[in-house]
Amino acid sequence: MSAKNKPRYPRMAQLKTTDDLRNYLQTNAIDLPFDDALLPPDNSPFSRPIQLKSGKTIGNSLCILPMEGWDGTLDGRPSDFTRNRWTKFAVSGAKLLFGCEAVAVCHGGKANPNQLVLNTDTFSDFVALREQLLRQHAEQFGNTHDLVIGLQLTHSGRFCKPNSHKKFESKILYAHPYLNARFGMADDYPVLTDDEIDRIIGQYVDAAVLAQKAGFDFVDIKHCHGYLGHEFLSAVSRPGKYGGSFENRTRYLRTIVAGIRQAAPGLEMGIRLSAFDFLPFKKGPDDVGIPEPADQYPFAFGGQTSGQGVDLTESKALLALIESLGIQLVCITGGSPYYNPHLMRPALFPPSDGYLPPEDPLLGVKRQIDVTHELKKAFPELVIIGSGYSYLQEWLPNVAQSVLQAGMADSIGFGRMVLSYPTMPADMLAGRPLTRNQICRTFSDCTTAPRNGLISGCYPLDPAYKKLPQAEELKELKV
Ligand SMILES: Cc1cc2nc3c(=O)[nH]c(=O)nc-3n(C[C@H](O)[C@H](O)[C@H](O)COP(=O)(O)O)c2cc1C
Repeated sequence: MSAKNKPRYPRMAQLKTTDDLRNYLQTNAIDLPFDDALLPPDNSPFSRPIQLKSGKTIGNSLCILPMEGWDGTLDGRPSDFTRNRWTKFAVSGAKLLFGCEAVAVCHGGKANPNQLVLNTDTFSDFVALREQLLRQHAEQFGNTHDLVIGLQLTHSGRFCKPNSHKKFESKILYAHPYLNARFGMADDYPVLTDDEIDRIIGQYVDAAVLAQKAGFDFVDIKHCHGYLGHEFLSAVSRPGKYGGSFENRTRYLRTIVAGIRQAAPGLEMGIRLSAFDFLPFKKGPDDVGIPEPADQYPFAFGGQTSGQGVDLTESKALLALIESLGIQLVCITGGSPYYNPHLMRPALFPPSDGYLPPEDPLLGVKRQIDVTHELKKAFPELVIIGSGYSYLQEWLPNVAQSVLQAGMADSIGFGRMVLSYPTMPADMLAGRPLTRNQICRTFSDCTTAPRNGLISGCYPLDPAYKKLPQAEELKELKV
């Protein structure tokens, strides 16, 4: 096993009893809530429905987070791999699908050549994808009236790679002191003009109109993970109407919302938000992640100016704005997979472009839970979904139950876990014991693969991926 693959923290599977877990958390001063015993299905918060102001009801308090697969066709349509992933969403038992996966609003806004795109050419594929979800969910659970399906609309901004897995074709809002250099851009790399931004807003609205026609219940106006919507929030150094003040940095969001309200009346919206951010991290001694050196860092939205702590002042201002715009669904995440992945998806094993965890991944889980809790407390009327639970593995249900019981979030999101163990939510809802050999162990192959131009998926545990030739390629990449 290479140094990179040697775990720095105990594996969750080693914490076999609630006493083991409690002792570990106490010894390491990690104040993570969990319940010793799971409640029977009739009393479980997992099956608690969520009533939306729109009149729709979400049938339970479990949610599938958007998970893309780098597996669409070059013209932005789903492949069989995509359809198989959406099958996982359909049979999971979760009644909220927060976006399914990132779908670009235009070719140039794709994060990779195989990302889906919603336009008039691909429209019928999205109609079919949604119908597939409804059919498969109905086959499994007998109804779909309380299944709420969103579509995540994205423009990848700084991280656009529409034509080649190897070449960024970045669209940036301002020169970033670290990210320009790290992703091959000179300091004077051109920034998007206000007119170009206006055109992207138009493309967002056009895609939302199509999503509504295709029958999706809502669109997620993605504001996370370093992509364009998120970059606006940190564009403090950008002059003009889209940068500088909080009002200007949120103009993009407000204009998209107004455009959608006009062009697609009745379409609900949601926001996936990186509610906190830190400095970019890089490999330090022994490959452990360290932050870039900086005394002052103004580009961490929801972060302290040290670049190394959470400060939710602006995140709360944004949620107040979101609420005032009549948006109820908010999914909380943090940071970016490109420059500080440990914030967003705590893992024991890093992907090939990552670094060894700079902190116990349980602290990463706790940070997302705490931020989500603080925002839920401040905005009780919003429906707030938490992310980053997969690292908890067999303890996910115990932590999730405690969080829901205490009202620290309205719904628990499943990301990586849905790739390895699609029916974990259904098992939790039915009070069945977990199937241990399907539990995601956070090997990060689902990220290492696409970082090397391969389709994403759970190569270690999903039998369909284990037998692919790409599984062999991946093994070779990792030695
Ligand atoms: C392979 C992969 C694909 C992802 N695709 C998306 C995506 O399309 N949109 C998005 O907002 N987040 C995406 N994410 C982030 C997840 O939704 C989630 O926030 C993250 O994995 C942490 O949750 P977890 O601990 O349950 O995995 C992706 C993550 C992975 C590992």
